[in-house]
Amino acid sequence: MHARTFAPAVGLVDGILYGGDYNPEQWSPSTWKEDIGLMKEAGVNLVTLGVFSWAILEPSEGEYDFSRMDILMELLSAGGIKVDLATGTAAQPAWASVAYTDIAPMDERGMRFSHGSRQSYCPNSPSYLRLSRALVEALGKRYAAHPALALWHVNNEVACHLQACTCDTCAALFRKWLASRYGGLERLNEAWGTAFWSQRYSSWEEIVPPRVSTASLNPAARLDYRRFMSDSFLDLVRGEAGILRRVSPGIPITTNLMWTDGADWFRLDGVVDALAYDSYPDPSEKESWRWAAYMFDLTRGHLGGKPWLLMEQAPSQVNWRPLNAAKKPGLMRLWSSQALAHGSDSVLFFQWRASVRGSEQFHSAMLPHAGASSRRHAEVKAFGMELARLSGKNGSLPGLAGSVVSARAALINSYDSWWFSQYRPFPTDAYDYQRFVRDWHDSLSRLHVPVDIISPRDSLDGYGLVLAPALFLADEELLSRLGSFVKDGGTLATGIGAAMVDEEGKVRTGGYGGQLARLCGIHIQEYDVETPRGGVTAGGYPVHAWFDLIEAAKETEVLAFYEGGSWLAGFAAATKAKAGKGNAYWLGTRAESSYLDAFMADCLAAAGIEGLVAAGPDIEACVRLTASGEELLFVMNHGEGEGRARPVTKGWKLVHGPGVIDEGEELALTPLTFAVLSRRA
Ligand code: GAL
Repeated sequence: MHARTFAPAVGLVDGILYGGDYNPEQWSPSTWKEDIGLMKEAGVNLVTLGVFSWAILEPSEGEYDFSRMDILMELLSAGGIKVDLATGTAAQPAWASVAYTDIAPMDERGMRFSHGSRQSYCPNSPSYLRLSRALVEALGKRYAAHPALALWHVNNEVACHLQACTCDTCAALFRKWLASRYGGLERLNEAWGTAFWSQRYSSWEEIVPPRVSTASLNPAARLDYRRFMSDSFLDLVRGEAGILRRVSPGIPITTNLMWTDGADWFRLDGVVDALAYDSYPDPSEKESWRWAAYMFDLTRGHLGGKPWLLMEQAPSQVNWRPLNAAKKPGLMRLWSSQALAHGSDSVLFFQWRASVRGSEQFHSAMLPHAGASSRRHAEVKAFGMELARLSGKNGSLPGLAGSVVSARAALINSYDSWWFSQYRPFPTDAYDYQRFVRDWHDSLSRLHVPVDIISPRDSLDGYGLVLAPALFLADEELLSRLGSFVKDGGTLATGIGAAMVDEEGKVRTGGYGGQLARLCGIHIQEYDVETPRGGVTAGGYPVHAWFDLIEAAKETEVLAFYEGGSWLAGFAAATKAKAGKGNAYWLGTRAESSYLDAFMADCLAAAGIEGLVAAGPDIEACVRLTASGEELLFVMNHGEGEGRARPVTKGWKLVHGPGVIDEGEELALTPLTFAVLSRRA
């Protein structure tokens, strides 16, 4: 069970944080006062400043100019608006790229990226690290004691545009990283299986990053390179955070992530105080809100369940998709409430004032091109006012900031499995690790069951149900912990090629899945993959992508067989076994919701876990627990029609929202609205 710390993500601000990225360098100082006046009217209490200010703060090497930043910090302070001050290191000035050629990152073809965009730096470049850390130190010292400063914002979306660099600096550091991991070349040769294709290394210098070659590269080497790059990005954050801790003690530190597999972000626990996420589900995509729900739970999970920050979302459309749909009225408010429901202590946007020039001139903003009297701004303002009424000392939900999500179900997210399944030697491109994990999360969402997303290293204590879909790569230690969890009475559901390889990427022989398969009372000799002909079913329902061909032991219950004309018929697709005091399920394939939800309901029943509400799939329900022992049940209607929801437990009272609870204790919600119920836990 995730720790319950009950500390607001940013203790220096009262209640839920509301505001967004503020990029005043794009505007003349004459707009700044107007901005701050309008922010106050809109209930803004925090802005993120300086994300892309490096070139202005340091117009030439070592010459800092903080004059504009000083004025802005004063103006914001006088306006009672706190600042999330960015270190500005996400985009180095052009002079730096020109002066120091080691800064430009290199792709797999050995091509250097040019400057002229953003994040065009190698995370290991000595020049980039020297210059960026000097800036962080200068900023940190200058503003550490400023009354407006509430939070430090390290870099911005680290590893969003660039997940790996293959330059010679990285190559040299990779060799060192390998030497410390493996001790000697003999061990490395064994771990990488270099007996294959004459790949044996006889000196460290022969080892290169994964650059394009004639055919597929060594999978274990690729996996290690992803781990090395992950450590590089984490070190970048750690480096900036370390400086800030030294020169600006007591100020919390965050960093914001976007959807990216650039690093194992669970390892940020202890590096930053609060983790932030930038959420951009596509309003034109069906049920994209469920993807957001997954990412919110993942963000919370990265820091062991602490309240997190919604650092960015678009008030309406973005500008970087091929097709950028606007958010219809009400959607921004609903999706904001969804972040709160999943444990965020903030609702922040990109960005305050809409740009008129530059790459994001068509991105929506809190203050749109149409100005303060626009419909869009009115919606932003109304929600700001609503949040002020809701949170804070005198609000109707005073304990919301700092409250935690408590879940009895956990879903394992393994970056190693994700990375390993991305490259060619893998048997099918259709093995989409994140898609499979999200499928299972989506199912819990449809069944209204809260879930924590945990790392393979996290404790399983306190959970009744652990889900480990597609855990392709797993070490023996994790497998035995899963075994003990089940034998002690827990319910485990796993499958889709789980545990096929160990932490070095080596295949387990004598039946896929090793001890995990034995725990589940099954034997897997073979798998198959979906071909364009498709048509495979299990238990009468279509299944896709990957098929574990399961032979069930005598005592193991088969929940579904593959069937149809295919040669797979007769093998089990889903099974359930008793092990010790618990249950172990295996689902060997990607099932559509029609089957997956029934499978999940079975697992939940075995674990004794109920959904929060009885309602249709367009209704989302989440619960937060406050420090004073109050449960806050968020019920959201993502559907186009009226939605009804009945809490499965008694004693709830409606504390926020337009819904009504009738005598049967059923909540009725108009489309795209939410309500909050509360009761003593
Ligand atoms: C984020 C980024 C912001 C802005 C935004 C636009 O990825 O952090 O700076 O570019 O996207 O949607």
